Amino acid sequence: MGKRTISPGGSISGQLELPGDKSISHRYAILSALSEGTSEISNFASAADCQSTLECLRRLGVKIEVGEGLVRVSGHGLDGLKKPRRALDAENSGSTMRMLAGVLAGQPFTTTLTGDESLRRRPMRRILDPLCQMGAEIQSSEGDRAPLQIRGGKLHGIDYSVPVPSAQVKSAILLAGLYADGVTTVRESVSTRDHTELALREFGAEVDCSRGIARIHPRPELKARKLTVPGDLSTAVFLIGATLVLPGSSLIMHQVGLNPTRARVLDFLVSIGAAIRVPSLQARDGELSGSVSVAHSRLEGGTISGPQVAEMIDELPMLAALGPFTEKGIEIHDAKELRVKESDRIAALSEGLRQMGARVAEYPDGMRVEGCSGGNLRGADVDPHGDHRIAMALAVAALGATGKSSIREAECVAVSFPAFFTTLERLRGVAAH
Ligand code: S3P
Repeated sequence: MGKRTISPGGSISGQLELPGDKSISHRYAILSALSEGTSEISNFASAADCQSTLECLRRLGVKIEVGEGLVRVSGHGLDGLKKPRRALDAENSGSTMRMLAGVLAGQPFTTTLTGDESLRRRPMRRILDPLCQMGAEIQSSEGDRAPLQIRGGKLHGIDYSVPVPSAQVKSAILLAGLYADGVTTVRESVSTRDHTELALREFGAEVDCSRGIARIHPRPELKARKLTVPGDLSTAVFLIGATLVLPGSSLIMHQVGLNPTRARVLDFLVSIGAAIRVPSLQARDGELSGSVSVAHSRLEGGTISGPQVAEMIDELPMLAALGPFTEKGIEIHDAKELRVKESDRIAALSEGLRQMGARVAEYPDGMRVEGCSGGNLRGADVDPHGDHRIAMALAVAALGATGKSSIREAECVAVSFPAFFTTLERLRGVAAH
């Protein structure tokens, strides 16, 4: 694909169902692999990250069949994984690497886990500390980075307070806790997404949750399940952004995941003036989902900080890119985690939005994107630094610019939403190019 040209203007209209949630798909695949029997996962994510998880599980000896939106995983229980012949490659996926590290910590063999250049730059100390405390031996590369060589073994239950709010870290510990000799407790000072806790219960594990604490009882008999993954809200947010930017637009999305630990972004958007409604809500397989409707709106702007940050961590790039389309701008604080995502998202967004003419102030832990410059944004040639969410956020800003933009290495969107550009163009009634 290389460069992708975005012509501004037009309007969004239509209805659609989105591919399955990336976070939930990872968890269902991993827990299916650790269960007894064949699980069937419908609406499994099309995201490349989730394909990386499936490929790693295959290398651990798990039989996986992939059909149209349906994935069949044949597990042989907690002790059914086999020592892989080669290193496992998580590619661009932090969730794959960190969650599988938790599982591998409990295996009676040594595995190497690696990833692409971006993942090999990301911090791993956050999982090394708790997993080593539990009894795993893990060798990392310089600066506590991947590749990780994980020598699993007998694990002890621990009581661990997570120093950075991270669902991936919490999940790694809970998954390792499946193999421990006692109860494992994870404490969070800021709540993060709880898909792992919910999925563990669906597969039959005993998990107690109370505010900020998750506790797992070891060695459950996990049972194969038939599950449906709700549509990915973090993906939906880019289409919501496009609808908000383009006058005359309206969109309805069905079966979107609305887990309360993820849906805070909708509350924020409504609080700054977005016409968003959730006309229907349902619970399935422990997760909430529903229809979400959105229409082009005048946006006031606002600030995101404190515990909100962890709840909207993946949506911050889109929210920042909406800044020029608001009256008072968008300000983000307490978000230094954004600097250690697939790219340094604060730097990448600041660079891209400035190239389009936005006024941006960059802080160590956030940024401010001035409002009311939307009309003045101009098309530019921007570099998403290989980061899917930066590419999609800049593409949405480009829809509201004057003149064409181009997004370099736009194929990186496949990490979470391979059909992003074609979906956007279909909803705008523009032919793909
Ligand atoms: C995820 C957790 C978040 C998020 C990532 C997916 C998950 O990462 O940014 O895209 O599925 O648990 P952190 O745990 O590093 O905050």
